[in-house]
Amino acid sequence: MSEHPTEASTREAGTDRRKEHVVPDLPPGVTPARVRTFVRRGRLSSLTKDRVERLAPARSLPEGSFDAEAAFGRRAPVVLEIGCGHGHAAIAYAAAFPEHDIVAMDVHTPGLARMLADADEAGVPNLRVEIGDAVLFMEERVPDATFDAVHLFFPDPWRKQKHTKRRFVSPANLDLLARVLKPGGHVLIATDQDFYAEHALAEVAAHPRFDARRVARPEWRPRDGFEAKGIAVGRTINELRLDLLP
Ligand SMILES: C[S@@+](CC[C@H](N)C(=O)[O-])C[C@H]1O[C@@H](n2cnc3c(N)ncnc32)[C@H](O)[C@@H]1O
Repeated sequence: MSEHPTEASTREAGTDRRKEHVVPDLPPGVTPARVRTFVRRGRLSSLTKDRVERLAPARSLPEGSFDAEAAFGRRAPVVLEIGCGHGHAAIAYAAAFPEHDIVAMDVHTPGLARMLADADEAGVPNLRVEIGDAVLFMEERVPDATFDAVHLFFPDPWRKQKHTKRRFVSPANLDLLARVLKPGGHVLIATDQDFYAEHALAEVAAHPRFDARRVARPEWRPRDGFEAKGIAVGRTINELRLDLLP
């Protein structure tokens, strides 16, 4: 998932700059390709379709403005995980903190479908799932001061210099995170890419609303997926915490 295939690079090299001026407004729900923090992928398998049809309705958010109490049927601390992939961290969090609620988001439907199946086995009534771009979700549906915490584990690194603007940790997204976090809220970031950790720390240092520091690995997070792959090739896992300033 951390590879960055051709759609992004092709567009980058070609027409995006012109489109920036030609298409002033895009329909709701469409992220301009030039700023997508993710890569679009192909067709869905029948297994994915079946899992989504069977399991998504019970865990989907109600449409419209996000209302945690309506979504979870209770008032509790609420976390948003952005780019949850196959959702092992979100499921583990939900199991470790039954008194909290968590919304797990990704644009990658097969990963979410797998999470739905695993969550079904695990139970975890405090987990909801949203398919889509977390940037649009926060911009369009999340009221101010909604989340106690946001998790961003192993975000796509967008290694090339020309792709820097696609990295999730950016001035615009830090503004958004500052808006949707409750006072005293925080963001947890993990990355096996040292350059991404340095990028994030530099962006946060330049942002007036967050204070960043390196922290210990959260014990509840499973050691699999991108973390395991990074460790297997000798990388260090960078754990960052951004605290929202008053
Ligand atoms: C490298 S993968 C990591 C997945 C997972 N966190 C893990 O550790 O296995 C990054 C994920 O972030 C998702 N992603 C990137 N930008 C996103 C966005 N704006 N909204 C939702 N998901 C996003 C991608 O689709 C991808 O699944």
